[in-house]
Amino acid sequence: MKYGLPYQGSKNSIAPWVVDHLPAAPVLVDIMAGGCAVTHCALLSGKFGRVIANDISDSALFFKEVAEGSMRGYAHVPTREEFHAAKDDDPAIGLLYSFASNRKNYLWSRALEPVKIAASRMLTSPSLHERRRAWLQFVRELDKYVKTTNTPPSKAIERLQRLQGLERLERLEGLEGLERLERLNALQGDYQQVPLPHDCVIYADPPYKDTKCGSYDGFDHNRFTQWLQTVEPLTIISEYTAPPDCTQIAERTKTVKANGYATTKTTERLFVPNHQVETYYARMSEGTLDLDQPKEIMPWHD
Ligand SMILES: C[S@@+](CC[C@H](N)C(=O)[O-])C[C@H]1O[C@@H](n2cnc3c(N)ncnc32)[C@H](O)[C@@H]1O
Repeated sequence: MKYGLPYQGSKNSIAPWVVDHLPAAPVLVDIMAGGCAVTHCALLSGKFGRVIANDISDSALFFKEVAEGSMRGYAHVPTREEFHAAKDDDPAIGLLYSFASNRKNYLWSRALEPVKIAASRMLTSPSLHERRRAWLQFVRELDKYVKTTNTPPSKAIERLQRLQGLERLERLEGLEGLERLERLNALQGDYQQVPLPHDCVIYADPPYKDTKCGSYDGFDHNRFTQWLQTVEPLTIISEYTAPPDCTQIAERTKTVKANGYATTKTTERLFVPNHQVETYYARMSEGTLDLDQPKEIMPWHD
């Protein structure tokens, strides 16, 4: 099961683990929701009456749009120029066809671009005639790529195993028709401006401290630390290392792709502010709420 949008820093692979460590509540506020992996998993879990997904970027709004069904016409794989012309105005182009879904850099190197585009168009062009022409183009471009880059054919084939843009599109199409959407409110803004219902629990997944945060560079960690000391609703934070005056409540090792091919292990941790530790354990021992909703619980764990 994949959760949320393809997104840099997505919690897709550990979303059920995160949701397991959030106490049931009438409202969950995913306050830096990014690609909404935790929001998506929380909606399916049946643990929350409502989920508010907020991000400073338009990503939470976009997640809701996709789930409502807006992914028509994105199977045309853009060239580098088309991508740069469209990425800032069209979040779908930005996410689908950027490197690591960072919405900044084009998905493929200049050398690989013509081969990947031809391969994608072999699958997506509307007529047989166009698909056959794309096939001929693909064979020519692959030959050129192998010769001009001195890449062994076996290596070239390995690089062609994935057509990332189309894989991501398939994933977004899978979000369409997401049930329980009426329980989702999507917002765009700074986390400190989100109106917090009195009965909510907050999940905060900030750009991690001392990591290369890519497009989220510039996050003010001191301001976040100060906010944590005064925030009233119970707040569960994702980080690699403890924010000041916070206590770890869970950890889990996960495997991540280091450069698209190799993998490395990292340890994800969850924290709560020190002044909320007792409340956290008390709430976790209370069990689930009776949320007046269908009792069939979705298979949100794999
Ligand atoms: C690590 S990502 C969250 C990933 C998300 N949990 C997911 O699974 O896709 C951090 C997010 O914090 C957001 N962010 C950065 N500064 C913010 C702010 N001041 N207010 C709200 N969101 C902010 C970024 O736009 C980014 O989407």
